[in-house]
Amino acid sequence: MRDGDSTAAVLAALAWQIEAGADEAIDIVPADRFAVAAEAPVRVEPTLAAPNRAAATSDHAALRDDEPPQTARPRLADAAPGPVLLRAAPPALVDTPAHSLARAARSLDELREALMAFDGCPLKDTATNLVFADGNPESRVMIVGEAPGADEDRAGKPFVGISGQLLDRMLAPIGLDRTSVYITNIIFWRPPGNRQPTTAEVAACLPFVERHIELANPDVLMLTGGASAKTLLARNEGIMRLRGRWFLYESTGMSRPIPALPTFHPAFLLRQPAQKREAWRDLLALSEKLGELAHP
Ligand code: URA
Repeated sequence: MRDGDSTAAVLAALAWQIEAGADEAIDIVPADRFAVAAEAPVRVEPTLAAPNRAAATSDHAALRDDEPPQTARPRLADAAPGPVLLRAAPPALVDTPAHSLARAARSLDELREALMAFDGCPLKDTATNLVFADGNPESRVMIVGEAPGADEDRAGKPFVGISGQLLDRMLAPIGLDRTSVYITNIIFWRPPGNRQPTTAEVAACLPFVERHIELANPDVLMLTGGASAKTLLARNEGIMRLRGRWFLYESTGMSRPIPALPTFHPAFLLRQPAQKREAWRDLLALSEKLGELAHP
């Protein structure tokens, strides 16, 4: 990092802390939070098979970010001591027209074209624009949110509204911005009135989201909000339980699993600013993981 970059990152970190309410020094000697984060144990958890993914978002309430923690059904995978990975189902088991269309895309441009031609998600009829992605497709970090809102629908880009502005302020302290992250959603068209996407809408978009991740091939996924985390990791727990834990994400067209970190959605943080403290921990964990992967 150049000197100017690190000063900008420190200033952004300070601004972020003040915004989160940490506007007073409590101790005489400052604590090195980066060092504290480095000591925290990192647990890598498995994901489940692809056909169950859409079912993970089975009702409206399940998609809320601020839901109380749910009691997770015990699973074999949960009891596994180490980083066990349950592989996604082989392609033959998942062969809808959407899967075929998505799988045929050999580049991000082709995937965008495939979505433009896809008529299997009724949200397309009410939306103004396809909201495909923003940022740098070569980036090591891919952020996957929920669904476009009104601003995103107008601009045809994800996270350009108030949530996106907060997302930018969250990324700046760890030295990331839209030139160094790639951003998309699990839903490519705005749900009318910003309602939560239905299970069917999530399922319709999922083959394209999976292909999107395969083609972008990032080092790390950051899943913002319960809908994104539960869908892509095929977990039943709410975001309160999922956030801050490392999972391994994999789909059939990937050569290797990718570490995936669920965290709070910026829209949730706007409603619950006290949770920014936990979000900051997640950002530090993300930064640390990028360092580890760059210097194994
Ligand atoms: N919220 C999201 O999850 N995605 C967007 O693109 C905008 C708001």
